[in-house]
Amino acid sequence: MVGVLCVGFAALDHVFGLDAMPERAEKYRARTFAAVGGGNAANAAVAVARLGGQSSLATRLGEDDIGTAILAGLAREGVDWTPSRRYAGLQSGVSAIMVDAAGERMIVNFPGAPMPDDADHLRHAITPDCRAVMADPRWEKGALVSFEAIRRQGGFAVLDIDPAPRDPAVIQAATHIAASAQALRLMTGIEDLPTALLSLRDTLPGWLAVTDGPRGVFYLAGDAVKHFPAFAVEAVDSLGAGDVFHGAFALALAEGMDEAGALRFASAAAAIKCTRFGGRDGCPTRAELNAFLMQAA
Ligand SMILES: Nc1ncnc2c1ncn2[C@@H]1O[C@H](COP(=O)(O)OP(=O)(O)O)[C@@H](O)[C@H]1O
Ligand SMILES: [Mg+2]
Repeated sequence: MVGVLCVGFAALDHVFGLDAMPERAEKYRARTFAAVGGGNAANAAVAVARLGGQSSLATRLGEDDIGTAILAGLAREGVDWTPSRRYAGLQSGVSAIMVDAAGERMIVNFPGAPMPDDADHLRHAITPDCRAVMADPRWEKGALVSFEAIRRQGGFAVLDIDPAPRDPAVIQAATHIAASAQALRLMTGIEDLPTALLSLRDTLPGWLAVTDGPRGVFYLAGDAVKHFPAFAVEAVDSLGAGDVFHGAFALALAEGMDEAGALRFASAAAAIKCTRFGGRDGCPTRAELNAFLMQAA
């Protein structure tokens, strides 16, 4: 098994399924409810585990009930969370998430208390069989330290720009970047995604893509922008699609796929996730993903 370390945010999501998005300060009735672990890096780590990788997660949590619930959820998924740290007296992150009948979502996130930034212990969290790190920008020092360590042993440093990191060094340290559409637009001030990608062409050393929900992925290939369409599925919940995409993409690179193969692998994993309600609970297993790809071929 190849190892992938995910670094960044873990939270507890309270997911409400509604007919339509709340618009006013009124009372709304949800049709469905699920309390499920969330957070970009934690969701990506669950995707890695379900898809057959050796998955570990480095995050920062409070020593509170929410933190305990988050770690229990990760352990149930077979994610090794021992590179994580907990801090007494600090609050862990929680979100309230509304998903409408079309599968679109609205998120209210309480990021938790600001956690100590120190990440030196991550230098030792990269085991010799670890081939990739997937980091989100919610712990920039963690991303920097782990990217440096994985690159020293010739592995991949995958960054989820969602949102954009404040420290540009994090972007420069990545070998592969996949931004969310919203974050790329905010970063560049350019609405059109291919144009936004091209505007960054000369400033970034690594491979660069942007995910655009049901419209798929745009990525830079030299001076051109290429498009990888999303798989056509009946989406009921896109919550965590980007995170599943990033975890699957990092695992695919770690297993030796090229970027085109990794895009297909990750897009399929994310598409299957969208067909199921309940955030990352909808992430497929490797067998489910293989069956889906066989049928799509
Ligand atoms: N409705 C959908 N149908 C099929 N695939 C989807 C759908 N929504 C998302 N995806 C897949 O998941 C990827 C990431 O989703 P996206 O919504 O862009 O991420 P984020 O939630 O981080 O903004 C997309 O590029 C696409 O491949
Ligand atoms: Mg995302």
